[in-house]
Amino acid sequence: MTARITAVANQKGGVGKTTTAINLAASLAMMEKLVLLVDFDPQGHSSTGLGFAKPDHRAGAYALMKGAPAEALVLSTEVPMLQVIPAGKDLAQLEFELFELPQLQVLRQALEPLMDRFDHILIDSPPALGMITLNALTAADDVLVPMPCEFFALDGLAELMETIRRIQKGPNPRLQLAGVLLTMAEERTNLGSAVAAEVRQAFPGKVFQTSIPRNIRLAEAPSHGRPVAFYDLKSKGAQAYLSLAREWLGQEEAMKEGAR
Ligand SMILES: Nc1ncnc2c1ncn2[C@@H]1O[C@H](COP(=O)(O)OP(=O)(O)OP(=O)(O)O)[C@@H](O)[C@H]1O
Ligand SMILES: [Mg+2]
Repeated sequence: MTARITAVANQKGGVGKTTTAINLAASLAMMEKLVLLVDFDPQGHSSTGLGFAKPDHRAGAYALMKGAPAEALVLSTEVPMLQVIPAGKDLAQLEFELFELPQLQVLRQALEPLMDRFDHILIDSPPALGMITLNALTAADDVLVPMPCEFFALDGLAELMETIRRIQKGPNPRLQLAGVLLTMAEERTNLGSAVAAEVRQAFPGKVFQTSIPRNIRLAEAPSHGRPVAFYDLKSKGAQAYLSLAREWLGQEEAMKEGAR
C-alpha cells in the first residue's frame, strides 16, 4: 500500500477546504479506506472540527515539520479508519522558517514513514499561497480545489493554476489536478447554475459530477467536533460527501484499469 496524497487547496478563504477535507476524509474512511487527515493550517479548523484541541508545538503539524517522528503524532478519531495530525497557531511560524527552495520538500519527507500505513492522506491547507501551501503542493500527488458557486468563484484561480504549474516544473513533477469541487451549490438558482456552468466550461472534464449543496448541517457539525456523517447521516451535506467519496474511488479504479 502506498498512500495517495491529496492537498485540498484554494488561496481564497472560506471556500469549503476544511469542510471538504474533514468530510471527504471521513467518507473515505467509512468506505473502509485507511485515511490520514493532516491539518496543515495554523487556524486548526480541521482539528477542532474533529473534536481535538489545538496542539502545542511538541505535537501536531509544526512538530512534524521540525523533525518529530510522524508515527508519534497521529491521533485516532471516532471514525474507526480515520486518523489525524492536528495543527495550531505555531504552524504559522513556518512562513518565516522555510524560505529556501529545498525546504519545499520538508512535508513530503516527513510523511514518508506513513506512506505504507494509509490508503489516502488528505492535507488541509490555509487560505494563502505561502510556504505552507507550497509544501502541501510539493508533498501531494494531486490537488483538490473546492470552489463555491458564487459570482467571484473563478477569481484568483489563474494564480492558483499558475502556482500548480510552477510546482510541476520545479519541486514536484508528479502533481496533478484531481479536480474542481463545486461547493455551497445552489444550482436551482439562476446564479448558482450559471456559475456551475461557467466553472465546468473553464475546466472541461475536471469538475466533479458531485457538487456539495449549501447545507446547514455541514456548518453545524464542526461545533460538535464531528464529521457531518456522524452528526446527521441523512442530511444532504453528509450524502453529498459520501457521493464524492464514491466518485473519488470510482475515478481511482478507472485510472488503475487504464494503467493495466
Ligand atoms: N456546503 C456548505 N453549506 C453550508 N455551509 C458551509 C458549506 N461548506 C462550508 N460551509 C461553512 O462555510 C464556512 C467556510 O467553510 P470552510 O471552513 O470549510 O472553508 P475554508 O476554505 O476551509 O476556509 P479557510 O480559508 O478560512 O480555511 C464554515 O463556517 C463552514 O462551516
Ligand atoms: Mg480551512
